Amino acid sequence: MLNQRLVSGDPIAERVRCPIGAYLERLHRKHAGESGGEVATYIPELAKANPDWFGICIATTDGKIYEVGDTRQGFTIQSISKPFVYGLALEDVGRDAVLAKIGVEPTGDAFNSISLAPQTGRPLNPMINAGAIAAASLVAGHSAEDRFHRVLSVFSLYAGRALELDTAVFESESDTGHRNRAIGHMLRNFDIVTGPPEVSLDLYFRQCSISVDCRDLSLMAATLANGGVNPLTGERAVRHELVESVLSVMTTCGMYDYAGEWVYWVGLPAKSGVAGGVLAVLPGQLGIGVFSPPLDARGNSVRGVAVCKELSREFNLHCLRVPRSARSAVRAEYSLTAVSSKRRRTERERGLLDTLGEQVRIYDLQGDLVFAVIEAVVRRIVDASSQLHCAILDLQRVTDIDDSAVTILAELVLGFGAILFVDAGNHPRFLRRLEERLAAAQHHERLRVFRDRDAALEWCENQLLARAELEPRPTDPIALADHGLCRGLSPESVAALESMLTRETFAAGELIIRRGEAADRMYLLVGGEVSVIVPLPAGRLMRLSTLSPGMAFGELAVIDRGRRTADVRADGRVECYALSTEVFDRLAETHPAIKMQLLQNLLRNVSQMLTRLNHEVTTLVM
Ligand code: DON
Repeated sequence: MLNQRLVSGDPIAERVRCPIGAYLERLHRKHAGESGGEVATYIPELAKANPDWFGICIATTDGKIYEVGDTRQGFTIQSISKPFVYGLALEDVGRDAVLAKIGVEPTGDAFNSISLAPQTGRPLNPMINAGAIAAASLVAGHSAEDRFHRVLSVFSLYAGRALELDTAVFESESDTGHRNRAIGHMLRNFDIVTGPPEVSLDLYFRQCSISVDCRDLSLMAATLANGGVNPLTGERAVRHELVESVLSVMTTCGMYDYAGEWVYWVGLPAKSGVAGGVLAVLPGQLGIGVFSPPLDARGNSVRGVAVCKELSREFNLHCLRVPRSARSAVRAEYSLTAVSSKRRRTERERGLLDTLGEQVRIYDLQGDLVFAVIEAVVRRIVDASSQLHCAILDLQRVTDIDDSAVTILAELVLGFGAILFVDAGNHPRFLRRLEERLAAAQHHERLRVFRDRDAALEWCENQLLARAELEPRPTDPIALADHGLCRGLSPESVAALESMLTRETFAAGELIIRRGEAADRMYLLVGGEVSVIVPLPAGRLMRLSTLSPGMAFGELAVIDRGRRTADVRADGRVECYALSTEVFDRLAETHPAIKMQLLQNLLRNVSQMLTRLNHEVTTLVM
């Protein structure tokens, strides 16, 4: 008796406890007892913070969030605001204008050091208060309100929710921000800040007083890790190409006079704030947010630094960790002798393709195509080029294509016989840029893009057959005697068989066999071509094979009395002989020799198909 509970779909066991959640709970317990550090008091409102508050949050670039502890406890973002306003300044006035006002050199000094370049008064980087005040002065807007509104809405895009100003902290900071005011006036003195310094200072105090929680920090970090797009909302907070500039200054300057040790031990672009937040980014993978008010002598959260050190060590998050060799991006490489298109070939064509197939190589790529990967692929093609006529680059499993690939591949396409791209539809930016490059070189015609590998393989097969000057297939219908199923039959037997068959013609596009129908005949194709097609999810269709005169279809369902497993559609005008199931059955009594020969020919077809399939499967899974 079948255990109904097993097939009922009800839970068959307790849901497994999330290992990362469990690990974070252990990490939290371990550091919760940490007693070092002091809550910041130089901004009086901050002194009210509870030193025991402690939260850890990790957000992945595909939107999964792991959190433990006080992750929803609000606090002010403080200096963690600086990289985001720096990104906004880059967006608003452009890289050159920002670099003219703010450097990118670490100072090795504290966050509130008056580190200005002696001649120009240019703050050394945007992570120290001087640089941050200068960056605030570059934010576009018609008024102070408008500028702050822009900062708040961009921060909210990063956090994926509407953030607000903590007025009490803002006022507390504004009332006591004398050192920052001094810095502001120094900057005005050097024309780094061109308007009244109070305006930029006000925006700076407000940006520092935006209220966030630990979960927000992890999402803001994950948005940077995700190239500027919030993993939960899908909204873009900053242009993709500016993220690397933001992460660069976070890496070199984000932790001030602790930056060197931080990169050494943790190795993640990061930023800390005096309210106890620490934000860290693992590009392409995740964002970390930690909140704990007690600070060390450098103004960084004690528990925050300890947690990030441990996470980095435990999960190998160091961003300078040497990734596995880029060579692994070539998932598989094989030739046209190992795989073939779905177009069923005559034995003569098959023989030629088996001989010439090595002149075509298929490179099945995966992951991110960065410089080192493309360099490796192109070197393989160049090394093999003396033997190659075509190379197919299959991009189906490619997740991202770096712009450097456009330069290299454009050169390859211009210099090599035929480079074919499969599935580039997933990479519109890459395709557009490659098109532009080839058009600029007046060789737009060299861009060959195919929706699927099958179409690319067929194109290459046709190329090889055309180069082998194989006489084109006759367009007129072939005689029944020349049909593959009639091989070995005497002319008399062919005539006898013909008398039992019905001749059928189909118009272009006509459905000859419908999937799921009961099978009542097989077809001997003598004129035109048909394609065997199955429907895929989302309305897509997949071609299983294309048949030409001399081949048969619908035979398998006739033999196993099953239902049709695929649609068969006429690609053009088609002529066939139909052999009904009754006639086929009756042949055993009426013409056993014909039946035997037909079965033998059918079996040979099936074994040839299986041999090819085994060969292909072995190649593709290897
Ligand atoms: O300007 C200040 O002093 C504060 N609003 C921000 C300082 C800060 O967060 C330093 N970070 N560790």
